[in-house]
Amino acid sequence: MEATQNKKIVLSAIQPTGTPTLGNYLGALKNWKTMSADYECFYAVADLHSITVRPEPALLRRRTLEMYALLLAIGLDPKENTVFVQSHVPAHAQLAWILNCYAQFGEAARMTQFKDKSEKHPENVNVGLFAYPMLMAADILLYQADYVPVGHDQKQHLEITRDIAERFNGIYGQTFKVPEPFIGKAGANIKSLQDPTQKMSKSDPNAKAFISMLDDADAIVRKIKSAVTDSESYVRYAEGKDGVNNLMGIYACCTGRSYEQIEQEFAGKGYGDFKAAVAEAVVEELRPVKTEFDRLIDDKAYLTACMQEGAEKASYFAGKTLRKAMKKVGFYQF
Ligand code: TRP
Repeated sequence: MEATQNKKIVLSAIQPTGTPTLGNYLGALKNWKTMSADYECFYAVADLHSITVRPEPALLRRRTLEMYALLLAIGLDPKENTVFVQSHVPAHAQLAWILNCYAQFGEAARMTQFKDKSEKHPENVNVGLFAYPMLMAADILLYQADYVPVGHDQKQHLEITRDIAERFNGIYGQTFKVPEPFIGKAGANIKSLQDPTQKMSKSDPNAKAFISMLDDADAIVRKIKSAVTDSESYVRYAEGKDGVNNLMGIYACCTGRSYEQIEQEFAGKGYGDFKAAVAEAVVEELRPVKTEFDRLIDDKAYLTACMQEGAEKASYFAGKTLRKAMKKVGFYQF
């Protein structure tokens, strides 16, 4: 088992914290699928990360299976890529411990996500929350990843990953590839349908603010119809038209059309026609994903077999890096 020599390596991961939104799909997951054609890709369900908020065990189990099925449903081929569950590959936790010892308390304490989360949940500021970036660094460095597709909120974690890798390499010699962030195409920064100055989020208390990747056609149409726009009634991309800009961004991502083309298409038409077209494009975009998800989620035997194979492939590559790092640190080997 060898990585194809000339292909660059990509790693990314997503936490099993519920069905991702259309924003997660257009901003990240769709890109995972696109990249899988050109790179050697490792994609993980980051279940270890998600216990920092202590989910209900049955819920974590169900969501892990669902997230895994969803990754296959977006078209990732488990034979072509390595699609796996993080906790199935013990090397992640093992390398994370080592990396903890090469990260400074002060630099970890500066992570804005740690500061935000500890402020929001003062009742559970656990050490795992603090050590989260070093686990993420382990995810990345184990696979010698060249590129890591990340959203804006994870860029700081990628920076600390690079710092830790450079520090370790500086002490022990070349051990880890220092990864580059891979920022996807612009325009995929999808906003809330109800408050287009905010990011679209699945934890939004207003269910009309986001479209879930597995929403049915009726729900999608309803939510887009009630999306906030403005009083101008003119489809154009401009400052101060956050709602319309957002819908244009969604439409552009789903159809591949440019903003100019969209403006032309809806010249002389109102927001009603525009919203109907956006809704239809989203329905068509998500339909194959939902159909495939519904089929896969009932085939637990297949999903389990894919998980097992993914874990084996991932363990093979991760094991090589882990052994190398352990040897350099000086752990006794026999
Ligand atoms: N922390 C990331 C998030 O919440 C998920 C993640 C875990 C990740 N490990 C990773 C992303 C490694 C990229 C690379 O979005």
